[in-house]
Amino acid sequence: MSSITSLQVFANEHFFVDLPYMKKVVSGIRPTGKLHLGNYFGAVKNFIRMQDEFESYFFIADYHSLTTHPTPADLHESVKRVFAEYIALGLDPEKCTLYLQSDLPQTAELYMFFNMNAYLGELQRLTSFKDKIRSQPDNVNAGLLTYPTLMAADILLHKGELVPVGKDQEQHLEMTRTFGNRFNRLYNVEYFPEPQAFNYNEELVKVPGLTGGGKMSKSAGEYDNIYMSDTDEVIRKKIMKAVTVTVDGPTEIGSDIPAPIQNLLELMHLVCTPDVVNHYRSAYYDGSIRFGDMKKQLAEDMCVFMKPFSDRIAEAMSNDTLISKAARQGAEKAAASADTVIKEVREIIGFKKFY
Ligand code: ADP
Ligand code: TRP
Repeated sequence: MSSITSLQVFANEHFFVDLPYMKKVVSGIRPTGKLHLGNYFGAVKNFIRMQDEFESYFFIADYHSLTTHPTPADLHESVKRVFAEYIALGLDPEKCTLYLQSDLPQTAELYMFFNMNAYLGELQRLTSFKDKIRSQPDNVNAGLLTYPTLMAADILLHKGELVPVGKDQEQHLEMTRTFGNRFNRLYNVEYFPEPQAFNYNEELVKVPGLTGGGKMSKSAGEYDNIYMSDTDEVIRKKIMKAVTVTVDGPTEIGSDIPAPIQNLLELMHLVCTPDVVNHYRSAYYDGSIRFGDMKKQLAEDMCVFMKPFSDRIAEAMSNDTLISKAARQGAEKAAASADTVIKEVREIIGFKKFY
């Protein structure tokens, strides 16, 4: 896909000129814990490439994290940490607009406008809302219900067109398109674009966890995750504890590999050379596999892969000047884009000054 297209604008009442136009990219991550390997391969790796090719807005979704009621101290600590991690992993405040969601109160205003045209039935039907009702039955608050209108506000506040996210966010994006289109129809304008989920790979990525369950996730606990800031010692300990199965002799080639082994092979695929992955895959089928060796190999290659990241995270976390400057600069750039959109939205709705 070419990132630069052109935009036809009126030069005067007779002529159009073609100006180069870069598509707008918006994405965010909630500051609910340290970034892990799944966040890196599913989201941040794409962000890093996109910042060179598009007009990109990347943020920390700190308003969104309030649905689970963090303490002020935890919230503050997590926001600062994830901001430092973004920079350490490769986001460059000169190439993209890197900011905190809560630095844009315009987000809250657009969220309120979208809420006026969002309906109880459609919000209640969302898979993520149903999951939350099950996982936190004592805290089914209105912020959880309206999570998709807040997300639509994040994206449409910059008229975002591409949204790099993992597979779990597809339904939220569908809702973003619904709210934007509904606004356009209601006011008879062609104002908001239709944002699409984006990943450079053909398929959206899903990095498995270490405890044999589904995807690697912050909520699955310390031993399910490999954090981008983990030290060699911690990485080795977590991988050596990963779940395996017993194998009694050779298995027919092509037959299904049990999930815990498949997960380890998928993790190997991310950080080991192809011949290493092939060696262990064949060893599984011919029955010669030794899981201790396999995990040792994965742990060593994981440590090599992680080392530059964990070092840079430690460095960025201790550099207050760097992250404060980046956050200030990001807030200013993001506000310039948000101010334009919110002003136009207010006028479209009919909030025009008569005084
Ligand atoms: P978590 O599930 O750990 O709380 P988030 O929901 O904060 O992670 O996800 C932030 C971003 O990282 C999203 O774009 C999400 O799709 C992506 N992501 C999270 N976990 C994984 C994973 N295991 N594999 C691929 N992408 C992931
Ligand atoms: N809902 C996303 C998640 O849980 C985080 C998010 C909030 C987001 N606002 C967004 C992602 C806007 C992309 C665009 O991972």
